[in-house]
Amino acid sequence: MLKTRITDLFGIEHPVIQGGMQWVGYAELVSAVSNAGALGILTALTQPTPEDLVKEIERTRGMTDKPFGVNLTVLPTINPPPYEEYAQAIVGSGVKIVETAGRSPEPFMELFKEYDVKVIHKCTSVRHALKAQSVGVSAITIDGFECAGHPGEDDIPSLVLLPQAAEALDVPVAGCGGFSDAKSMVAALALGGEAIVMGTRFMATKEAGIHQNVKDKMTEADELSTNLMFRTMHNTARVFKNSVSDQVVDIESTGTASFEDVKDLVAGQRGRVVFEEGDLEHGIWSAGISVARVKDVPTCKEMVSRLVSEAEEIIDGRLQSVKA
Ligand SMILES: Cc1cc2nc3c(=O)[nH]c(=O)nc-3n(C[C@H](O)[C@H](O)[C@H](O)COP(=O)(O)O)c2cc1C
Repeated sequence: MLKTRITDLFGIEHPVIQGGMQWVGYAELVSAVSNAGALGILTALTQPTPEDLVKEIERTRGMTDKPFGVNLTVLPTINPPPYEEYAQAIVGSGVKIVETAGRSPEPFMELFKEYDVKVIHKCTSVRHALKAQSVGVSAITIDGFECAGHPGEDDIPSLVLLPQAAEALDVPVAGCGGFSDAKSMVAALALGGEAIVMGTRFMATKEAGIHQNVKDKMTEADELSTNLMFRTMHNTARVFKNSVSDQVVDIESTGTASFEDVKDLVAGQRGRVVFEEGDLEHGIWSAGISVARVKDVPTCKEMVSRLVSEAEEIIDGRLQSVKA
């Protein structure tokens, strides 16, 4: 057993969290993660309306009696979803753990506190983490440059960002971005992390509701299989390298591209088709550098059990043996 401040805080068996994932974080995956003793997190905006989110929370409850959370990602968009209503749906459903991301959780903190919700805020810099701590979050997920999705603009990998955050903050910190296996999990614990948060690795599990082609493709990937796009727009996103993301990077390399020039290529609905129909070149899909470390497609239970037992072996075996 690996016991940390995060396992205590969330009442989970293992210091492992599945980060929110748009078009991936459905009830089947989330309940499988939680049943494996880790913390599953539903993705609020994957549900078309707050009412659908309420139903998805109920569906998850039907499949697990273990703790799980909901991710609420607030990003600048032309037509913003009704964030406040999604937050109300979360608290109204009795969910007690929320992962916030995208911007400061401050506007929602009063509501979450009123309903005794523990907030784990995901951010990509120590300064944003300190700000979130000051508005009352219970824990921080610090997202290094390796991560899938939005790594921010500072380009600091987890190896440096995690200890910086862990030393600067009083609340427990989870390492995120690049974690995939027992080796990286033990490293996170050594760096001051109280848990790891994984996205990419959890996509390649049996219960993730995405097409098998995507999972198979992930097992063939290496450390050069991602692209960074939107760099020139200061809204960097790490996605899987395919013909569509290559094209976006090419267009941006002119140095004069605007969002309009790539808008159709990066449309979320096209990415959704990749996940649902398995046409890998249809659109953009998120993946982190840790995709290089995905070698198989186990069940969540197999993956989490393996992670924890191998982590214990490393701690009791290799780390002891290097001690002179
Ligand atoms: C397909 C996919 C979709 C994601 N969507 C979201 C999202 O909607 N909101 C969010 O906060 N993070 C999102 N993430 C990021 C993950 O929660 C997590 O921070 C990230 O995957 C960690 O890095 P890793 O991929 O190296 O494990 C997504 C990641 C993936 C792989």
